[in-house]
Amino acid sequence: MIMLSGGMILANTIVVVGMQWGDEGKGKITDFLAGKADVVVRCQGGNNAGHSVYFDYKKFALHLLPSGVFNPRVINIMASGMVVHPKALLAEIEQISHQGINDIQVYLSDRAHVVMPYHLVLDELIERVRGADAIGTTKKGIGPAYMDKTARFGIRVCDLLDETRLLNQISVALAFYNPVLVAFGSETFDAQALTNEYHHYGMQLRHRIADTGVMLRQLIKENKYILFEGAQGSMLCLDHGTYPFVTSSSPTATSVPLNAGIAPREINQVIGVTKAYSTRVGAGVFPTEITDQIASTIRERGKEYGTTTGRPRRIGWLDSVVLRYGAQINGTTGLALTLLDVLSGMDELKICVAYRLDGNIIHHVPAKYQDYLRVEPIYDSFQGWKEDISAITSYESLPENCKKYLQAIEAYTETKIAVLSLGPDRTQTVVLDPSIQ
Ligand code: IMP
Repeated sequence: MIMLSGGMILANTIVVVGMQWGDEGKGKITDFLAGKADVVVRCQGGNNAGHSVYFDYKKFALHLLPSGVFNPRVINIMASGMVVHPKALLAEIEQISHQGINDIQVYLSDRAHVVMPYHLVLDELIERVRGADAIGTTKKGIGPAYMDKTARFGIRVCDLLDETRLLNQISVALAFYNPVLVAFGSETFDAQALTNEYHHYGMQLRHRIADTGVMLRQLIKENKYILFEGAQGSMLCLDHGTYPFVTSSSPTATSVPLNAGIAPREINQVIGVTKAYSTRVGAGVFPTEITDQIASTIRERGKEYGTTTGRPRRIGWLDSVVLRYGAQINGTTGLALTLLDVLSGMDELKICVAYRLDGNIIHHVPAKYQDYLRVEPIYDSFQGWKEDISAITSYESLPENCKKYLQAIEAYTETKIAVLSLGPDRTQTVVLDPSIQ
């Protein structure tokens, strides 16, 4: 934490976290803040994540690499809480290299877990077994990789460099999974062939493999500006999200210390990123979902199609019950509101302020999925604004109706808006909280 004259505190460890169901525009906010950062850290998830970053008038789709890769000065860390498909990581490094980004500083935790090819097959099979209750996963093997981590026969990045250990670990996993694969009529895997392939990936990545916990603790000691980049969103949290329609890690700020190997007290600021409306991909409860013409308009204007799977995203009104919950579980110190420009031209806007469940008004997210499915959103309505706001550079210049919408968001979520994003470009960002300038 850096104390400036006049008592203002400049946070030097910031967590950027998604407040909804992912795809909130964290990439844009992280990229914006990364311009000043010394270090950018991805803490959880794998290549189920996907965000577009616009740099030098080019569009980059990142899935595994932290957003600081565009600046050769920035140290990028893929921390121990991640699950990494090494082949996908090598392909992503090559892809951005073809687009002209070569000089990258990326370090991969030796404790991170490895997504193996049988995880991808298992992801498909588990979805098939769930039938009508399928989660709509990204099919990147994320859930099964985390299953193996907790079952304690996961493959870690450090294992990739030690052939004997790797063969041993893969053999244990396959002794369990090959009979399962046979039972489902799927092809089995050969432990030796996988060992050869994955050891090779390890050797290709070895100059990037490090004890990133040691690195981070040292960088914190040196008072570096560190940005922890969330993937997915709080409502997809394994513990606090809309279980079972969640991902298999915790995309909350609370999980950052655990997943990065640092102490909780080291986090100074938490920026909760939310769209000015809501979206969700995959199945699962979505109380404020709309499916009419307004949804289509928002989808087209906001280009609401998945970066990883290309699926059209489901669209809904902003849900302040979800945002307040997210603010509480993350300790959100400020909101970053994205895609506000998409709402220009709408006659009416709505914010869900509570739910009705069995005749009672509730202000929380029910634990029981079947209850959450039954809630009815209670809305407040707002008049829209007609003006194009995408080139506005200050809060004061926003249309009055837009300001009213923003004030209502702050009031309902009990959280200040720290950053506004009015378009995909870095310049289309208005910072309201000077401590994160
Ligand atoms: P998995 O993470 O692939 O297991 O998918 C579990 C759920 O999380 C599915 O509903 C996915 O659509 C969703 N999900 C996973 N990653 C993302 C993301 O980066 N953005 C939005 N949704 C995601």
